[in-house]
Amino acid sequence: MCVTDSAGNTMPLWCLLVLLALPDPTVTTNPGVKVQITQQGLDYGRQIGIAYLQEKLKSISIPDISGSEKVSPIGKVEYRLSGMRITDLGLPQSSLGLVPGTGISLSIGNAFINLHGDWHVKYLKFIKDSGSFDLAVSGLTIKATISVGRDETGRPTISSNGCTASVGGVRVKFHGGASWLYNLFTSFIEKQLRRSLEQKICPLVHDGISDLNPQLKTLNVLAKVDKYAEIEYSMVTPPSISNFLIELSLKGEFYNIGQHQEPPFSAPPFSLPPQTSSMLYIGLSSFMANSAGFVYNRAGALSLYITDDMVPSSSPIRLNTKTFGVFIPEISKRFPDMMMKLLLKTSTQPNVTFEPNNVTLQATGTLTAYAILPNTTLEPLFILNMDASVSGNFYISGLKLVGSLQLNGFDMSLGTSYVGEFQVKPLHNIFMLVMKLAVIPKVNEYLQQGFPLPAIGRMNLINSKLQVQKVRLVTPQKPDKCSMLKLHLCSSLFQAVIS
Ligand SMILES: *[C@@H]1O[C@H](CO)[C@@H](O)[C@H](O)[C@H]1NC(C)=O
Ligand SMILES: *[C@@H]1O[C@H](CO)[C@@H](O)[C@H](O)[C@H]1NC(C)=O
Ligand SMILES: *[C@@H]1O[C@H](CO)[C@@H](O)[C@H](O)[C@H]1NC(C)=O
Repeated sequence: MCVTDSAGNTMPLWCLLVLLALPDPTVTTNPGVKVQITQQGLDYGRQIGIAYLQEKLKSISIPDISGSEKVSPIGKVEYRLSGMRITDLGLPQSSLGLVPGTGISLSIGNAFINLHGDWHVKYLKFIKDSGSFDLAVSGLTIKATISVGRDETGRPTISSNGCTASVGGVRVKFHGGASWLYNLFTSFIEKQLRRSLEQKICPLVHDGISDLNPQLKTLNVLAKVDKYAEIEYSMVTPPSISNFLIELSLKGEFYNIGQHQEPPFSAPPFSLPPQTSSMLYIGLSSFMANSAGFVYNRAGALSLYITDDMVPSSSPIRLNTKTFGVFIPEISKRFPDMMMKLLLKTSTQPNVTFEPNNVTLQATGTLTAYAILPNTTLEPLFILNMDASVSGNFYISGLKLVGSLQLNGFDMSLGTSYVGEFQVKPLHNIFMLVMKLAVIPKVNEYLQQGFPLPAIGRMNLINSKLQVQKVRLVTPQKPDKCSMLKLHLCSSLFQAVIS
């Protein structure tokens, strides 16, 4: 790649520029999401694909065939076949198989084509005759290889490479004209039609396969979540194809909208356990959840003001200086009969871990308590440091991952006090109630909006199951385990519409 001058010396600067432009093959981005399409998934896709291909092949247009042939004892017979159109076409047997390392094999067998056309002949210089004919093609086999790759935007692409079509039997039935003529013709007309059809089929199969690319281009490589975040779902490597499945490795990383800054941690490699009973598996690594924590924390979105109106009216605990004055007399002395406001915010990004059947989120932050002065100014009373643990339940709703959290527990310690020394422990129950009654419902309200999953076209996931699993990390030098959420989509309940 280096530029060499006439004396054969390489120019180092140019070399360096070239090297910088090349991606470092030793640096690989591990995916945050893996999608596996099994043989069952392929079979489902085949049903849709074959129906489409059948329509496509019906559009075969066969050009007129003309020529002349010596037929004894008459001599030269000029013939022309015209107006040929397909009357029926069936693809009763088809299969899609996986070709490890390459792609997908398409095999169609026992297909048939019926067509109708007109024949014209001229012989002995002036005698003309014409009529119609029906052609039945049987035992048609088509074999094509579909390679699966990724485009420059990180979306999947497919293309056909290699296609063969061969016709088993051809039978022509002539209508009109003199029957002695038919016998003379049949064999070479059959041969011509067979060749013509065989040449027409593969280009149409090729087009039919390429026609799916606009669908694949609809992969939401940048899925907007809300005003703060988007998730990148581009493919980080070309798809890998084994005997059992096609696996797509997607980035699965949250970013602040418009500014893609990498977090100080990276995605560990992970592998989905091989499973084949469903059409589609999606594995989300805990890296994805942690990248979300990084993004929202950085955007300052992980903070919440808690006011008395957020505490249900049935609660005996009110957010006022009277309540807190019971524990910290200084408060009721200096700020009598005032409402209070709390500010809860994270100080570092929350850490999400996936345990079998349990998602746990560990958050560290501060809780600042204010008295609301009569002129609405907030007067800080104290700041507590908090460590909270919540666990989550997640499920799939449409094409979104939706969740809800519950509080496992939290620890508090005094950070700063503006109202003198006081014991934190007696306040624990009050804050537990505030968290359960005001904070968690608010967070859950947000989580109900859900996070978009990778999707293509008008795909829909129905009645999917979700499991949280521990999976072994791929690299042997890290004995650690990586966790993931696994979406398990039952074959009968997966719907994709390709329009
Ligand atoms: C999350 O916590 C685990 C265990 O406490 C730790 O090993 C990991 O480094 C933490 N991850 C982040 C992103 O802070
Ligand atoms: C999830 O794990 C956390 C922390 O280990 C625990 O406190 C909580 O009870 C667990 N939840 C469930 C539903 O198992
Ligand atoms: C509100 O009242 C407090 C105490 O009386 C005072 O210190 C503060 O400056 C006032 N703020 C405004 C905006 O008037």
